Amino acid sequence: MPSLLEVRHLQVEFPGSQSAPGNGKPLMAVRDLSFTIAPGEALGLVGESGSGKSLTSLAIMQLLPSQARVSGEVLLANGKGSDDLLRLAGPAMRDLRGRRLAMIFQEPMTALNPVMRVGSQIAEAVRAHHRVSRREAWDRAVTAMQDVAIPDAARRARDYPHQLSGGMRQRIMIAMAIVNRPQLLIADEPTTALDVTVQAQVLELLGELRAKFGLTMLFISHDLAVIANLADRVAVMYAGNLVELGTKQQIFASPAHPYTQGLLQSAPSLATDRKRPLNTIEGTVPPLHAVPPGCAFEPRCRFRVAACAQGQPPLLEVHPGHWARCPVINAQL
Ligand SMILES: Nc1ncnc2c1ncn2[C@@H]1O[C@H](COP(=O)(O)OP(=O)(O)OP(=O)(O)O)[C@@H](O)[C@H]1O
Ligand code: SF4
Ligand SMILES: [Mg+2]
Repeated sequence: MPSLLEVRHLQVEFPGSQSAPGNGKPLMAVRDLSFTIAPGEALGLVGESGSGKSLTSLAIMQLLPSQARVSGEVLLANGKGSDDLLRLAGPAMRDLRGRRLAMIFQEPMTALNPVMRVGSQIAEAVRAHHRVSRREAWDRAVTAMQDVAIPDAARRARDYPHQLSGGMRQRIMIAMAIVNRPQLLIADEPTTALDVTVQAQVLELLGELRAKFGLTMLFISHDLAVIANLADRVAVMYAGNLVELGTKQQIFASPAHPYTQGLLQSAPSLATDRKRPLNTIEGTVPPLHAVPPGCAFEPRCRFRVAACAQGQPPLLEVHPGHWARCPVINAQL
């Protein structure tokens, strides 16, 4: 099936500073990242804090900070071929954002205007991309609020953000993101700021919206349980690099990369004996100025051999559609 989104060799680099560790060396935050998302698919992007997940989504949206240097290709299908989002000019990209691409962030309060009614904010998102009357835009906003299961939507549309709970505000963000039926919805830790019960409700809602509207999603989380809930395929990132990619089944039932194995062993599950401490992966993610030259996971890896420290290991196909960046494990399979 042709991809809806194809990311090819994406790199995001920041200029180094003489006064910071690394002595002015450029900092490579996302390195040679490639993946695809098929229409209707949800790809889960997982990795510890600092692995480059948010920068990947910001690169796709062309929302990186100005000092970031980005290269590679981000191809979004347009019916006839594809647009390379890294090469679209500002006005074309602004038109595309909110119409063909939409994003939900972790903290809705930072993305909502505190002095504007939530219904007006959604209606404004409609009018930014469609020539419709204020009345029509307002009606679409209320419908979108009904789509995200906000009770009494017509009345709540007149509320200001502070009058809504955190869960309801996140539903407003989702309504704003889907109101123009984007081709791709990017959700970056959309439930991390919410308490556990509300988190489950919002995840369930996203699942329902996917089924109802055939949404294609890039779903980002550091939490494997959240990823397991929503994703069809999973991409695992470590220190800016893709280390494993496969179907949810492949990643959860037979993880091939030692880092993914460690993440799974350290993730709490319903079956976890709460009295026993969880296994954690020893050590921490290296800071960008100190990423090892060979396999980035080498200092933390219990399977390492001398060759691991020498060169960047390639991504190898372990089984059809299942890729891992570890020649040592691959040789044992
Ligand atoms: N403007 C910047 N200048 C320099 N380094 C940056 C900048 N923005 C991000 N970084 C670094 O790039 C790396 C990746 O950041 P990113 O925000 O993508 O991580 P993440 O995987 O989303 O983590 P989290 O789970 O904490 O959200 C981090 O080490 C971060 O410190
Ligand atoms: S390449 Fe070596 S260090 Fe890296 S994950 Fe595989 S075994 Fe571990
Ligand atoms: Mg992030």
